[in-house]
Amino acid sequence: MKALILSGGSGTRLRPLTYSQQKQLIPVANKPVLFYAIEDVIEAGADEIGIILGPNKDQVIEMVKSVAWSVPIKFIYQGEPRGLAHTILVAEEFLNDDFVMYLGDNILRDGIVRHGERFHSLDSSASVLLTEVDYPQRFGVADLNPDGSIRRLVEKPKVPPSNYALVGVYFFKPVIIEACKSIEPSWRNELEITDAIQWLIEHGYKVDASFVEGWWKDTGKPEDIFEANRLILDDIELKNDGQIDNSRVMGRVVVEKDTKIERSVIKGPCIIGKNSIITDSYIGPYTSIGYGCQICGTEVEDAIIMDDSKITNAGKIVESLIGRNVRIQESAALPKGYRLIVGDNSDISL
Ligand code: G1P
Repeated sequence: MKALILSGGSGTRLRPLTYSQQKQLIPVANKPVLFYAIEDVIEAGADEIGIILGPNKDQVIEMVKSVAWSVPIKFIYQGEPRGLAHTILVAEEFLNDDFVMYLGDNILRDGIVRHGERFHSLDSSASVLLTEVDYPQRFGVADLNPDGSIRRLVEKPKVPPSNYALVGVYFFKPVIIEACKSIEPSWRNELEITDAIQWLIEHGYKVDASFVEGWWKDTGKPEDIFEANRLILDDIELKNDGQIDNSRVMGRVVVEKDTKIERSVIKGPCIIGKNSIITDSYIGPYTSIGYGCQICGTEVEDAIIMDDSKITNAGKIVESLIGRNVRIQESAALPKGYRLIVGDNSDISL
């Protein structure tokens, strides 16, 4: 089986972070979201991976190549983003076998092994993963027959036929290529994968539904990234490879190599990346601190702080998503006031 992982798109709902960073590279518990997808497809038996690239293609290539993966990875540039079904057309030559398509901004707690085995054991042309959600309007939605088989799929319906959303993982036989060639762009001018699968159903091909039991997150918005971070941190194991002095550490805390913690209180679950320095601070539950960060005289809780950021005497920071190489500090300068240099589309609550 091959795997096609999508790592393009402009990530508008995650601006300003996505002006400088491809959305699938945003770290959740100190690992780029994209890596969870790569690990899942390898675990499910993919023997070659194609990664679809978009605007920040060099960044994605560099990040992926920084790890020695156990299967070959090929990079495929999408050019103009014209929908999920369009990526299959762009990768047509690569997709000469059964394949799993995995949206690189999705995270599934239990991986996809069980779903892959089901697809291989059935004689279906496609298998889609479904899960119950509270707001099906935000997703592709399945209309199901009483026996659990799929009657119809609709993309972002105003009046959803059920609460079963399409998770961003799909198993296909190569016939999906013909389906993608046969459909027309949707109202949002995209070739929708949902429409291609609907085409299979209408042309008599068998499409199976496989139900996801553990949690699933599409990390398209900041709230979803926080939620994914909390869910991943909920499962971490205590580990200390750093140096902790005069500090109180409670719960499941991961301290990576060459990290120093002094005169601080750390309450898990949380992770502090390598080469960071934490002094006179409180790091609370559901916090992920990246590599090379410095936190001094500050309280941080339920937040993601990316690599090389420096926060000094900044009071209490909660539910925050802080990019790379950011400086936040108390200032003694007069006149007193907030001094901000903030990119477009930032979101600040004081
Ligand atoms: C895409 C699919 C949708 C699916 C969702 C899962 O939506 O079109 O059917 O439910 O991914 O993440 P998009 O992220 O393009 O809005």
